[in-house]
Amino acid sequence: MLSVENLHKSYQVGRTTYEVLKGASFKIDSGEFVAVMGPSGSGKTTMLNCISSYIPYEKGKIKLGNIQMDSLSEEQLADLRNRKLGFVFQDFMLLDGLTIKENIMLPRMIAGKTDHGMIDTAERLCQIFGITAIKNKYPAEVSGGERQRTAVARALVNNPLMILADEPTGNLDSKSSAAVIQSFKRAQKELNATIFMVTHDSFAAAHCDRVIIMNDGVVNNILQNHGNISQFQDELLAAIKAMSEEVTA
Ligand SMILES: Nc1ncnc2c1ncn2[C@@H]1O[C@H](COP(=O)(O)OP(=O)(O)OP(=O)(O)O)[C@@H](O)[C@H]1O
Ligand SMILES: [Mg+2]
Repeated sequence: MLSVENLHKSYQVGRTTYEVLKGASFKIDSGEFVAVMGPSGSGKTTMLNCISSYIPYEKGKIKLGNIQMDSLSEEQLADLRNRKLGFVFQDFMLLDGLTIKENIMLPRMIAGKTDHGMIDTAERLCQIFGITAIKNKYPAEVSGGERQRTAVARALVNNPLMILADEPTGNLDSKSSAAVIQSFKRAQKELNATIFMVTHDSFAAAHCDRVIIMNDGVVNNILQNHGNISQFQDELLAAIKAMSEEVTA
């Protein structure tokens, strides 16, 4: 589904070049829910932005489905972002002037897919995420958890190849975080969604099928979930601790 191969990205600040991604490689299968963890500054958001094609990179290959991204023009990349990817942001980014249902339909409108199936799809997503009763309300009139479920539904309305999320639970209390993770799990189970989530939250990551651990611009480790969430969370914390000891040693 997604393959990232030997990705290199640096930022130029004045005359200095900062190498941020130094040859990151990994693969994600269709229908997988994968998290990326790693220290602040290790390049997680940069990598997500390269995959979203928000920022250019110098070297490496990114393949999404059967699309080789480095062969696309700016216009084709914008189209890919609008039609093939779904985004969930830390602060949800719902539009206050639109109802819950209109917010969910927005990416379809942007992609120009306003056919009759659009309303049916939005209604179905409202049902799956338990927000049918509030679909005609405005974001200011619903709870934080309902807003976040709306954001997940919105990310799915174009039937994207993949959902990309950067710290979607970053601003939330533990109960709302759990609701977001449950929404992703439901999207995976009911819609076979593929989800790629950057997170600092080991509890959230422990619900994923696999966790990619990044350090200093490369993939340091990839851990597989064998089904026991608390055991997997312990393994993740141990892997992160071992990595930081390696760095300071
Ligand atoms: N636009 C930019 N210009 C210059 N340097 C940048 C830019 N964006 C990020 N960086 C630098 O690149 C490095 C990696 O940043 P990135 O945001 O990818 O880290 P991260 O792993 O997402 O960290 P965090 O966990 O804090 O979100 C950091 O050292 C950061 O200062
Ligand atoms: Mg980040």
